[in-house]
Amino acid sequence: MTALLTVRDLTKTYASGLRALQGVDLSIRRGEIFALLGPNGAGKTTLISIVCGIVRASGGTVEVDGHDIVRQWRAARALVGLVPQELTTDAFETVRGTVAFSRGLFGKPPDAGAVERVLRALSLWDRRDSKIITLSGGMKRRLLIAKALAHEPRLLFLDEPTAGVDVTLRRDLWALVRTLRDTGVTVILTTHYIEEAEQMADRVGVINGGRLVLVDDKAALMRKLGRKQLTLALQAPLAALPPALAGLPLALAEGGHALVYTYEAAATAPGSGQRSGIAELLLRLGEAGVGFKDLQTSQSSLEDIFVGLVADPPAAGAAAPTAPSAA
Ligand SMILES: Nc1ncnc2c1ncn2[C@@H]1O[C@H](COP(=O)(O)OP(=O)(O)OP(=O)(O)O)[C@@H](O)[C@H]1O
Ligand SMILES: [Mg+2]
Repeated sequence: MTALLTVRDLTKTYASGLRALQGVDLSIRRGEIFALLGPNGAGKTTLISIVCGIVRASGGTVEVDGHDIVRQWRAARALVGLVPQELTTDAFETVRGTVAFSRGLFGKPPDAGAVERVLRALSLWDRRDSKIITLSGGMKRRLLIAKALAHEPRLLFLDEPTAGVDVTLRRDLWALVRTLRDTGVTVILTTHYIEEAEQMADRVGVINGGRLVLVDDKAALMRKLGRKQLTLALQAPLAALPPALAGLPLALAEGGHALVYTYEAAATAPGSGQRSGIAELLLRLGEAGVGFKDLQTSQSSLEDIFVGLVADPPAAGAAAPTAPSAA
């Protein structure tokens, strides 16, 4: 199956000289939920804005379902919906009016039925005649999604959909995004909440300093890069690691009351052919006379992996002229 979105060698240098994107290649499959993770200023919004035709690329190409976003912009734009990072709506317009207007912006003929379907899907039908100013924050979020869906796009961008949103609403939005995906909409979301990517995404891309540093299936990523820890609660505290245990990836914790053994999560994946070394560890503990009364394992989260990946960021816009810094 061909990709729904194909980004090739995309670059963006803003007028300031800042290189916000430095050669991004990305291919998005039909029907997937793709999470784009990255720290502030990584280039997430720039990438989305280029695909949506709001920002012009400096180099490279973007195709939506085979339509080049510059030469065939009308066809490409019609397939794309955007829920922007900044909340902007016309306070005195009505819910139904603003969604109908958004649909019209894309040259779609008025269709009361289509507008009703979108408003019902987002639980806004009861508020269809309310002025936007009277909506709660959560309703406004949903309204922005309704506006983005008004022209029935195939590819929906959610730029930090749940920033500053409470836990309940966040879960509602996640459920909503899954429902959208089930109706055939492909979803790309950016987020700072790693938990969101962990919960939602089929695949994850990490962008840092304008470069896509990694794209992978979420599950494979967590398997490959994740680490596991085995923590043993000792029967008697140790002042230091016994020499008999030297050379093992072990550390004392909890004031000598626990031993922590760290190993690659990949080692325990089915068919990995690698060994976690736990059997040897237990053997050597026995030989060294170190007894334990309890043990537990834990696995690193996507957050640990992400922090590891962006800990050493490539200098963003390194070749940009250095402006006299005011800050
Ligand atoms: N219009 C602009 N003019 C000049 N520089 C810009 C412009 N828009 C963004 N930038 C810069 O480009 C870089 C990437 O910004 P972008 O908004 O794409 O990041 P982001 O990943 O979306 O960050 P955040 O997580 O904070 O939303 C940043 O250094 C930003 O300051
Ligand atoms: Mg952004």
